[in-house]
Amino acid sequence: LKEATIVKITAAQDLKELNQIRVETLGKKGPITEVLRGMKDLSPEERPKVGSFANEIRDLLTAEIERKKEVLEEEALNAALAKETLDVTLPGRQVKQGTRHILTQIMEEIEDIFVGMGYQIVEGYEVESDHYNFERMNLPKDHPARDMQDTFYISEDILIRTHTSPVQARTMEKHDFSKGALRMISPGKVFRRDTDDATHSHQFHQIEGLVIDKNVTMGDLKGTLEVVMKKMFGEDRKIRLRPSYFPFTEPSVEVDVSCFKCGGKGCNVCKYTGWIEILGAGMVHPNVLEMSGIDPNEYSGFAFGLGPDRVAMLRYGVNDIRNFYQNDLRFLSQFKGE
Ligand code: PHE
Repeated sequence: LKEATIVKITAAQDLKELNQIRVETLGKKGPITEVLRGMKDLSPEERPKVGSFANEIRDLLTAEIERKKEVLEEEALNAALAKETLDVTLPGRQVKQGTRHILTQIMEEIEDIFVGMGYQIVEGYEVESDHYNFERMNLPKDHPARDMQDTFYISEDILIRTHTSPVQARTMEKHDFSKGALRMISPGKVFRRDTDDATHSHQFHQIEGLVIDKNVTMGDLKGTLEVVMKKMFGEDRKIRLRPSYFPFTEPSVEVDVSCFKCGGKGCNVCKYTGWIEILGAGMVHPNVLEMSGIDPNEYSGFAFGLGPDRVAMLRYGVNDIRNFYQNDLRFLSQFKGE
């Protein structure tokens, strides 16, 4: 038995087979256990001899199995290691790094400027009511200026917003003026029923701005925008205001910034006049204040609406707004950001 088992142990190929041998020879039903169990039938003289012999064999085989087990375990480990070998000298595979969308970058840059001046950032709703998008912005149902913003209606009263201006009304009506002035910007998507072409997109972006306090003047509007335009387009920029019309501001202005050098091929943003139109703005119309529960005799404010798409087009010489929305990585990955 001893010899035969040792031969089997030596020949064992893997741990499973070895365990099988252990069960067969040393297990409860194995021959050695049987011998030990049969001891009670032996004479008292034979018992110690048979007992110690059987124990000796058992210890020997146990030790033999242990030794083989260690060998097999090491083999298994080596095999696993060989299979998982990693050649650290191989050149690495390049991981393609993404970039933040250029419009996201511009919006965050503008947000940073205003946050630095104490403005809060407010989120509005892309699905809006006719009430906030138009009526509360001094554009009643039959107002001809509604034609300025061709609208996607969802139902008679619900639409996807044509501008970020409804956030003005939503913020004004909630603001607690006993805690101080209201200064906010609200960036986001807006939608208009336009046919897409190089300069029109049915979806684009705006950043709304609003300041309301006692004694806010047109001078505050101009001064604020001048600081912002210098930060965005260079310290030697100048701005000028031209009279314009929006139903929710009075007076209303169009704001131009003096020519700046833009990047990219064929980039000459203002070859004709030396000025580029950059945003619409004005003093908040008394009707708008009143509808939001603010007394126009006590408070005044300014508002503006700025287009990040336009800023990006001017700054980088992008001549087709659709580039921003077609997700062509060859276009988008040009704007690496910081
Ligand atoms: N809401 C206007 C637009 O979309 C922009 C604007 C905002 C003008 C605030 C004045 C004040 O054209």
